[in-house]
Amino acid sequence: MLDHDYPKTERLKDGREVVLRPLAQDDFDGLFAFFQALPEEDRLFLADDVSDPALIRKWTDELDFKKVIPLVALDGDRIVADGTLHIAAGGWMRHLGHIRLVTARTHRHTGLGTIIARDLVALAGERNLEKIQAHVIEDNVGSVRMFETVGFKKAAVLANVVKDQHGDERNLAIMLNDVASLTRTLEDWIQDSMIPAFRAPGEG
Ligand SMILES: CC(C)(COP(=O)(O)OP(=O)(O)OC[C@H]1O[C@@H](n2cnc3c(N)ncnc32)[C@H](O)[C@@H]1OP(=O)(O)O)[C@@H](O)C(=O)NCCC(=O)NCCS
Repeated sequence: MLDHDYPKTERLKDGREVVLRPLAQDDFDGLFAFFQALPEEDRLFLADDVSDPALIRKWTDELDFKKVIPLVALDGDRIVADGTLHIAAGGWMRHLGHIRLVTARTHRHTGLGTIIARDLVALAGERNLEKIQAHVIEDNVGSVRMFETVGFKKAAVLANVVKDQHGDERNLAIMLNDVASLTRTLEDWIQDSMIPAFRAPGEG
């Protein structure tokens, strides 16, 4: 899907258009500028210290789509969103993907977050991941709604484990998308709705 579906143009709710594509090696300047433009409040809720240029350099230099699939959205030549699907190489979480996503303030509430989250879920399904998790601040209603829209449910809440920009403790919600069970439900539904005459001999 990465090769033949990208780059692709998406129209946002406000009529603007963005181009979605995987992150590339020469995106360092654009990606660093994107993170620099985020307000401190947003950066605090990201898992990594994105103000560190060495970290962003590592991400653009060491692309490995088997481990991390990074999608960026561009408005013209400006990166306005970055979403990543993280895949464990092995071990007890080898079936479990992790999505992280941030959009520029200038492009919020336009459907952009939902578009990227939807694509990352589709990419997880293609890689046969069975479940995907995302971590959000529980009272960040927009994030919770966005992940629910693309099939996540709140699986657990860790009370008072993260701190906001004021140093106040906030609840962390772990959102889970059971991609495999959705696929099974769809397959069962297709199977059940097959007209008997079209079933292969011996089938159901
Ligand atoms: C979470 C985030 C990615 C959403 O991005 P976005 O581009 O605004 O996403 P969308 O436009 O698709 O909107 C998502 C939800 O935000 C809310 N929202 C949309 N427009 C809104 C508005 N005008 N006012 C308030 N909330 C609004 C809605 O709940 C919306 O869902 P809905 O369209 O089904 O009602 C963005 O807010 C962000 O980058 N936050 C900081 C990082 C973060 O918390 N990431 C999530 C954890 S990985």
